[in-house]
Amino acid sequence: MTIDDGGSPQVVVRLDGVRKEYGGEAMALDGVSLEIRAGEAVAVMGPSGCGKSTLLNMVAGLDRPSSGTIEVRGQDLGKLNETGLALFRRHHVGMIFQFFNLIDDLPALDNVALAAQLTGTSAKQARRRALELLDELGIADQKDMYPAALSGGERQRVAVARALMNRPALLLADEPTGALDSRSGEQVMDLLIDLNQIGQTLLMVTHDPKLATRCANRLIEVADGRVARESSLERTA
Ligand SMILES: Nc1ncnc2c1ncn2[C@@H]1O[C@H](COP(=O)(O)OP(=O)(O)OP(=O)(O)O)[C@@H](O)[C@H]1O
Ligand SMILES: [Mg+2]
Repeated sequence: MTIDDGGSPQVVVRLDGVRKEYGGEAMALDGVSLEIRAGEAVAVMGPSGCGKSTLLNMVAGLDRPSSGTIEVRGQDLGKLNETGLALFRRHHVGMIFQFFNLIDDLPALDNVALAAQLTGTSAKQARRRALELLDELGIADQKDMYPAALSGGERQRVAVARALMNRPALLLADEPTGALDSRSGEQVMDLLIDLNQIGQTLLMVTHDPKLATRCANRLIEVADGRVARESSLERTA
């Protein structure tokens, strides 16, 4: 764990008064302030439409707030232009989604390796690390298969491998088990727990209380674009 001068783990994410308006009647986010420290596993829960994905996308630098500031690893994302944001995202943030978002016409290995090639790693090195990761995640045998031929659980593990390629400070997950049967969902949960136990900071959005209680050590409940409650969780893994 990274320790700062104060002796407590480094702040990885800091949101201050974040608002997001899409032009509709209600604010998608209406003044969210929060901090996430290195090594934490934080679950965000709340009703459909309350702003969870909006929050995650802004932490990922995929979208910008209407007002307020977002810092990731001390970098104010508002100070980066589009190119800067894209570079920042590639180097420091990994993201997994409910529907995997893999590239259909690339085999598993290339889906994973591409993430590192985009940061300037040679194809050979990228493929070597991709293979290591697929191996660690138990899907090395599927390396040459295209996403369509993989099960949902396998696809999500490929997506996790891709997200980890550049050793991100922060792993973001939006409903990572939402499209999986319960067995595959459990495997992905175990994977997230293992990753957090070796120090990976996690921020995940879920509707599944089991995912939150198994994988997270802090819960942030969002309602109507605001943080309604924060609590620590005893992991029940
Ligand atoms: N690109 C967009 N354009 C316009 N409105 C949007 C956009 N994205 C989200 N919204 C609106 O912002 C609000 C929050 O949406 P968001 O997707 O963050 O909710 P959510 O909590 O992730 O919901 P769910 O649990 O259904 O995934 C909703 O009212 C939604 O309609
Ligand atoms: Mg959502």
